[in-house]
Amino acid sequence: MAQASTGKGILEGMKKYALLCLVLVVGIGVYAWLKPSHAKAPSTKPAATFNKKKYSLSDPSSPWVVVNKKRPLSPLQYAPTDLVQAGNPQLLRSQAADALAAMLDDAQKAGYTLTPESGYRSFETQQIAYNSEVNGFGQQYADKESARPGYSEHQTGWAVDLGSDNCNVQDCFGSTPGGKWAVANAYKYGFILRYPADKTTITGYRNEAWHFRYVGKELSTEMHNKHIATLEEFFGLPAAPNY
Ligand code: DAL
Ligand code: ZN
Repeated sequence: MAQASTGKGILEGMKKYALLCLVLVVGIGVYAWLKPSHAKAPSTKPAATFNKKKYSLSDPSSPWVVVNKKRPLSPLQYAPTDLVQAGNPQLLRSQAADALAAMLDDAQKAGYTLTPESGYRSFETQQIAYNSEVNGFGQQYADKESARPGYSEHQTGWAVDLGSDNCNVQDCFGSTPGGKWAVANAYKYGFILRYPADKTTITGYRNEAWHFRYVGKELSTEMHNKHIATLEEFFGLPAAPNY
């Protein structure tokens, strides 16, 4: 009888011991789960980097296509397929047209009237424009302000020339209040000023305060934040002062 009661005592003791262990294990688990996040190891996740390979730089339908005197459109007679009205009679690719509409709306709300003066130009239209420059001023002069057919951003449907305050496609555009607003705000809508005054040796064209190129907000904002003005510099492409 004494033996049986001793055995029962040992059994009870073991049960209590097991229960204590269980409480300890559960307690440690709950503590680990609830402990403040600042006690956790610091995150090692790297900051997101801009993906420069997201879109093609050579496909003429890409919003990032880089067209200059060293980078003709391929094919030379490329024509986009989704042109829409972007201010009568100007056409742009639909994504660029939507972005431009938002930009012109906000400009109007801020008190500035901006007008699209030239959007998409076909290979043939560009040929006429270029030949007329050559005939009027000579080839050397023409090549500083008019692209040869197959080499113009206007042929992609991503570029637009703007006018404001009776100053359309002229140097004065950059000094008009509307022009200043456009230069300062275009990036918010996905546009960049493609031919700035201080980048002529890279772009190959003289200052064109009126020529805006749609590249999408992601890229225009990145270029703005990094203070990089040209597509050639941003993507590490050769300068294109000449053909
Ligand atoms: N004026 C620009 C360079 C063009 O003709 O495309
Ligand atoms: Zn232009």
